Order: sequence, then C-alpha cells, then structure tokens
Amino acid sequence: MTIQITPLHPLFVGEVSGVDLTRPLGPDDARAIEAGMDHYAVLVFRRQDITDEQQLAFARNFGEREDSRGGSVAKKEDARLTSGVNDVSNLGKDGKPLPKDDRTHLFNLGNCLWHSDSSFRPIPAKFSLLSARVVNPKGGNTEFADMRAAYDTLDDETRDEIADMICEHSLMTSRGALGFLDYSDEEKQMFKPVLQRLVRQHPVHGRKSLYLSSHAGSIQGMTVPEARVLLRDLNEHATQPQFVYVHKWSLHDLVMWDNRQTMHRVRRYDASQPRDMRRATVAGDAPTVQQQAAE
Ligand SMILES: [Fe+2]
Repeated sequence: MTIQITPLHPLFVGEVSGVDLTRPLGPDDARAIEAGMDHYAVLVFRRQDITDEQQLAFARNFGEREDSRGGSVAKKEDARLTSGVNDVSNLGKDGKPLPKDDRTHLFNLGNCLWHSDSSFRPIPAKFSLLSARVVNPKGGNTEFADMRAAYDTLDDETRDEIADMICEHSLMTSRGALGFLDYSDEEKQMFKPVLQRLVRQHPVHGRKSLYLSSHAGSIQGMTVPEARVLLRDLNEHATQPQFVYVHKWSLHDLVMWDNRQTMHRVRRYDASQPRDMRRATVAGDAPTVQQQAAE
C-alpha cells in the first residue's frame, strides 16, 4: 500500500490512507508521514485499532518520547495506565469516570482552553498522537487552529511589534483562568513558569507561527494586564473559524498534530460517561529561547 494524504481543510489537516499502525512502519512511510506533518500540521488516521505499545512504537518514528512528569496533579499511585502513554481520559484507576469534584478532573478541564501541548516545559513537545479508545456520546470534539496562517494574516505593525517577544508559560496560568488556584508547595515548584518565544519558526520549511497557549500569562518587559490584553487579542485572531478544523471523533481514530504549528482544545462533553483518549507525545529537541529564572 502507498501512503496517500487527502486535505480536509483549505489551510491544513490531511487524512492519511494506506497505512496500518498495528504494524511497524517502513522508513519510506515514516518519511512520508513526517513530510505530511510538516506540510499539513495535523494528520488524521481512521480505523486504527491499536494498543498502547503500537501507538508508542509509531510515535517513536518521529523522535524521543516526552517525559510526562510535571504535567499533572494526579499522583503516580493513582495512575490508570502504566504503558507510557499519557492518560487523557476522564477515568480513574477503577475505570469509571472521575467524580465531578475530583481534583484531577478539575485540573484536566484546562484542556478545554486553547493550548499547545507542553508549552509549560522548557523544551516543549514536537508531536502529539491521540488515539480514541472510547468516544464520549456527547461533545468532546477536538479543535485545531493553524498558527502559521494566524501569523501570516497579522498586519505588518503587529508582526514587527511581537517579533522578539518572550512569554512566560505555566500550567497555573491556564488552570487559574478556570478558577483552579490551590496548589501544594511542591506543585508550585513543579509548575513554575518557563520562557517561550511568541513567534517561532519551523525547522524544516521555515514558516513562522504564533506560539500561543493558554499557559502563557505574561510577556517579558510588559505589565501583566498589558501582556494579557495583547495575548487575548492574538488568541482571538488565531482562532477565527477560517483557521480552525473541528475533529469529530470516531472509535479508533488517531489524530497527530504538530505543537509547533498548531493550537488545540477539547470541547465540553458528558463527564458522567467515559471518554478514553490516550496520547503519545514526541519530545521537542530544543527550547524556543534560552531559559533564565522566570519570576
Ligand atoms: Fe492538549
């Protein structure tokens, strides 16, 4: 079979056919998919009934696995999955939906805000690969925004203004926006802000992207309110309908996105019913800017 990619949106997103992710990928196929990712930034694979191990093996074609520590308030002993994939479900260790007032559930609601995975880490993620194992009956679409197109359509004055800006990103900023404010001292230490450029350039094709995320809460050299007004404006611009693709999940879909070129968010769903989504994350290879102690 030969890999084919069909566009699903005028700006980005392709659907891949001719590949079976339960089997190891040949080098030509891996190259074709990586080139497809560079171009489309989001790729959709349908009807891929894979195990965690197969998902991780597929992800490994594109780089190292990202260490998931420091990205959650869930305790290690409460983990439902031990395979190495990130658990992005609404399920507890008992396999049942987490109670509405469960702390991990409340923290995870931050995924409903536009973000780029791991922008709160000094070296943020390259690709994320999300596999649908149980689809929620109501809502739960994932939306993606093309941050290259968002950058390209800024006026020249704004592009000049933001060219060298550095933002501070922290999980406490995105969660704080939802009113989640209680952290232990250990968590405050774990979630302390990191620095990211506001404009980044793709290492292969060189297109620039707006590197936004709801984790971004301040900009170096600006007051916080001034920075947040600018970030809000940029987010509003970047998530206009013409830049957004909405993915409605079917069982065994796998969607893969480039966090360097896109943002995403999940929409509300029925929290009393299961939604089992599992993510393999490919680590980035460099920080977007040299880190220094952020206040
Ligand atoms: Fe995410």
